[in-house]
Amino acid sequence: MTHADAELLAEWIPQTPLWRRYGLTSARAFSLLLGGIDAGDVLSVAAIDDDPAPAGFAWMLPRGTFGRSPYLRWIGIRPGLRGHGLGGALLTHVESLAADHGRELFLLAADFNTEAQHFYIRHGYVQAGILPDYVVPGVAELLYFKRLDAQTRSGITTPTAE
Ligand SMILES: CC(C)(COP(=O)(O)OP(=O)(O)OC[C@H]1O[C@@H](n2cnc3c(N)ncnc32)[C@H](O)[C@@H]1OP(=O)(O)O)[C@@H](O)C(=O)NCCC(=O)NCCS
Repeated sequence: MTHADAELLAEWIPQTPLWRRYGLTSARAFSLLLGGIDAGDVLSVAAIDDDPAPAGFAWMLPRGTFGRSPYLRWIGIRPGLRGHGLGGALLTHVESLAADHGRELFLLAADFNTEAQHFYIRHGYVQAGILPDYVVPGVAELLYFKRLDAQTRSGITTPTAE
């Protein structure tokens, strides 16, 4: 992800009800993404043909869980492009990158974000805990993780997103 990508992504991130619920503004989203890039986190973008703007993005911290395991902080596909398999392809790509850093990939899903929970479960994630009022009052964060299989860890999985 380049700084220009981050600027384009920050335009639509706050339009997503999930991130609006957390009070995210475009300026804050841009600043957080730049912070991730500068910190050396792994930020990926998904691209589709003939469209210079990123179709989606993922932000992974290689040791973001317990200082030990990869953590998927954010993943998002641009509104209007969701439900066509891009998110699944991007998640598979992130898993192949995460496999270089650990055997499991962890993430949090808000209790009200049932579509994302369904998405993660379909991709093999298992709920491991629940953190009430962790990020904002009144919302529980569900902790999910996936044990990355030997095939992913050996790098055989073919990335399908940039
Ligand atoms: C969750 C998300 C990344 C999935 O990407 P996607 O491109 O829509 O995913 P895919 O097309 O590969 O898979 C769609 C699946 O995700 C689910 N899904 C989640 N949100 C969806 C949405 N807004 N529109 C369509 N499907 C959605 C569907 O139930 C579908 O499941 P199914 O195939 O079993 O019917 C994307 O919907 C998104 O950006 N959502 C808003 C941000 C968010 O919730 N991020 C995750 C928490 S950080």
